[in-house]
Amino acid sequence: MDRTVQLTTRPTERDIAYDPPPAADTLQLRAGRVLEENWTGSSTVPSRGLYPHQWSWDSAFIAIGLRHRSPLRAQTELETLLAAQWGDGRVPHIVFNPSVPLDAYFPSPDFWRSATAGRGAGAPRTVQTSGIVQPPVHALAAWLVHCADPWLSRTRGFLARVYPRLAAWHRYLLHRRDLGGGGLVSVVHPWEQGMDNSPCWDLPLSRITPAPARSFRRADLDHGAAEDRPTDLDYGRYVRLAADYRDRGYADGPGDFAVEDPAFNALLVASEHALARIAHELGAPGTARHARAERLTHALVERLWDPAEGMFFCRDVRTGEPIRERGVSGLVPLLLPTLPREKVAALVGTLTGPHFGLGATTRLVPSYDLLGEAFDPHRYWRGPAWFNTAWLVERGLRVHDERALADALADALIATAGTSDFAEYVDPYTGEACGATGFSWTAALTLDLLHTRSHNVRPAADRPAVRGGDGG
Ligand code: SER
Repeated sequence: MDRTVQLTTRPTERDIAYDPPPAADTLQLRAGRVLEENWTGSSTVPSRGLYPHQWSWDSAFIAIGLRHRSPLRAQTELETLLAAQWGDGRVPHIVFNPSVPLDAYFPSPDFWRSATAGRGAGAPRTVQTSGIVQPPVHALAAWLVHCADPWLSRTRGFLARVYPRLAAWHRYLLHRRDLGGGGLVSVVHPWEQGMDNSPCWDLPLSRITPAPARSFRRADLDHGAAEDRPTDLDYGRYVRLAADYRDRGYADGPGDFAVEDPAFNALLVASEHALARIAHELGAPGTARHARAERLTHALVERLWDPAEGMFFCRDVRTGEPIRERGVSGLVPLLLPTLPREKVAALVGTLTGPHFGLGATTRLVPSYDLLGEAFDPHRYWRGPAWFNTAWLVERGLRVHDERALADALADALIATAGTSDFAEYVDPYTGEACGATGFSWTAALTLDLLHTRSHNVRPAADRPAVRGGDGG
């Protein structure tokens, strides 16, 4: 598509020009090929050029799709990541591949210095990692991977091996990261929440003095168009925050940036429910975990729900104030199985209303408010539609029996993945590819939804044939 075409007015339904979806079997093969090409032998890189190591939440989404092709590989993906867990329970957001040159990605291992700066927090000695985290999608992924082939999983003792690590990971988040004191987890860096340059961070980030531009060299611009990526000013602030955290020995406590985010916490709830099912499968009661998930759900609603806007907002822990920017993160709590019915209805109204336009002006969910001042249809998390958030919203819609909307979103995700060559993200109006192509989680989640659509399965059916907990 021609990137030079500028939209002068907001598009209407008629302007959305998505190509027809390619045949499903071809798409399946193509998606499988992306995952083959990005497989390193023990894990999958998000993309060969832009992200040449193992990323934490990418691996969880990748495992969710990979389970349909190779449940063994999907288990390995998660176990490789969890092998790099720190002694304090944190699962690092990047596990570095030692055979990749240092200048291929920034910040590289010599910036994070996990083995030395992270020693007090129990960083592993055998592998180099970053020191921040990413959203806890892992227990959900582990449960779904188990469900894909319970026999293989039981034979290999997969859940028995990952359960203690997943439990320690959640313990770290719940005990070390409740920086607001209200029962929710805070992120201490925009890279932790995963939506790096979302306008939701603009206000808390504005207090951070950027690291001087000459003190680091961005490697991302070697692989991605500058107008699709975060700005240099944002990068300077990311670098400052990460360096300060490192220089405190990765100790958690009051810092300059702390935000309670709805998607991060909703994923923890979903993963707590999954961990309860894993415990049950292993013969232990999961009741306490379900109860904890309920407490987290309650805290999320208490602290982050905005009844007037019909969505969740982030909360700036330093000021105690809500951040009144509409990001896709505020819709992800649709995933919560016990979210009250009227809040589900309000979220669906917001999703399909003018700010996100689903089914009207957009077919995938934009990452940020279409009407927001900061909206930019191409720049990373400031407007483009991403496939992982579409998958999460689709799952949330199914959890709450919003079947027609879920089907339409699944079909749009599948079609757009095909026409964009499994792009990292797309223009939410036109479906035009942005960032990298051949992106692993796009391919993996396409495989997952192709499976869901062809087997007509709902999240509640994600359960092994024998001895499972409740799904959903
Ligand atoms: N998403 C970040 C990057 O672009 C860090 O994980 O490198």
